[in-house]
Amino acid sequence: MKLPITRYYGSKRRLLDKIWDALMAYQINFDSMLDLFGGTGIVSYYMAQKGKSIIYNDILSFNCEIAKALLCSPRGNFTEADALSLLQRVSGREYQNIIANNFHNVYYTPDEDETIDIVVQNIQYLEEEKKASAFYVLFQSCMIKRPFNLFHRKNLNLRTNFVKANFGNKVTWEQSFKDLFIKFTKELNEFQFELLPKVEITNTSALNCYRHADLVYIDTPYFPKKDSSGITYHNRYHFLEGLMNYGEIPNFIDRGKVNLEINIGKNLEFEKRNNYIYELDKLIHRHRDSIIALSYTTEGYPSIQELEEVIHRYKQTTHICFLGKHGFALNKNNAERQEVLIIGI
Ligand SMILES: C[S@@+](CC[C@H](N)C(=O)[O-])C[C@H]1O[C@@H](n2cnc3c(N)ncnc32)[C@H](O)[C@@H]1O
Repeated sequence: MKLPITRYYGSKRRLLDKIWDALMAYQINFDSMLDLFGGTGIVSYYMAQKGKSIIYNDILSFNCEIAKALLCSPRGNFTEADALSLLQRVSGREYQNIIANNFHNVYYTPDEDETIDIVVQNIQYLEEEKKASAFYVLFQSCMIKRPFNLFHRKNLNLRTNFVKANFGNKVTWEQSFKDLFIKFTKELNEFQFELLPKVEITNTSALNCYRHADLVYIDTPYFPKKDSSGITYHNRYHFLEGLMNYGEIPNFIDRGKVNLEINIGKNLEFEKRNNYIYELDKLIHRHRDSIIALSYTTEGYPSIQELEEVIHRYKQTTHICFLGKHGFALNKNNAERQEVLIIGI
């Protein structure tokens, strides 16, 4: 299946066929899926393509907007002209300069800060059905311009100090918003559905989500085996979550942090290793009448055996499926890391 590229920490894009094959190998029949930690929406997208009805959930509202663009906005609705019109100031509109004023040389160049300010405010004037696509194009452009596609470090200098003009990353980072908006609008129009599948989007914490489906897919944040820095999804993507709440940004900037983290949408549920087993137990108990499919990795905490044990408390049969090695090529610590799907029936 052809799929859009995701630039997201922990995306399961490369594992989708393997997840599907594992479910089919155990003859798992389901018509509906609840994707509780939906992220990029790529798992929901794949399952929608397979004809399943979907409830997508994520705690970060910018992710929900990306999912809405891919899953709930019909092809052809958002055009290149729509995208390009977002880049211009419209006379008669008053613009704030929140990014330019507060994030000078933190994540983007001054010109780019100004563009982000303009685009976010123009999106508010778009028709409702186009907004998610517009945010998709903006967020993908913002991610592709960042070293490692992340926001937990102030490291614009990695980009600006890089001298080899033809080095792959440099070329990617320096593409203009205009070119990127054209590229991502094309991408959206290639991947959006003509006939919309049955999809519902919810934006809440997993333990606050009381929706039901035949199969519940659980892809929580993951912890390395050894205790480490404890970087959360909010730390990694706070800037995009901030853009969803543009006018509020100045009131929520943590000026004690070098990267000026925006404290909107912060929540530590499933982000603290000491609470993880307790929270997972609560979640599986809630969904004990559904088929459970949990993604994790062999190099994480808790171990696969501990996770299976939690699922086994509520499900009669469990299967551990090894999906192969997907460690980051350059990171030797991850060389042995295997992706795993634990199924509870
Ligand atoms: C491993 S990623 C999921 C990746 C997703 N399956 C994909 O392929 O793109 C974990 C996701 O959980 C979300 N998240 C973190 N804590 C959460 C919570 N308590 N409830 C719901 N979502 C949460 C994060 O925003 C992140 O998008």
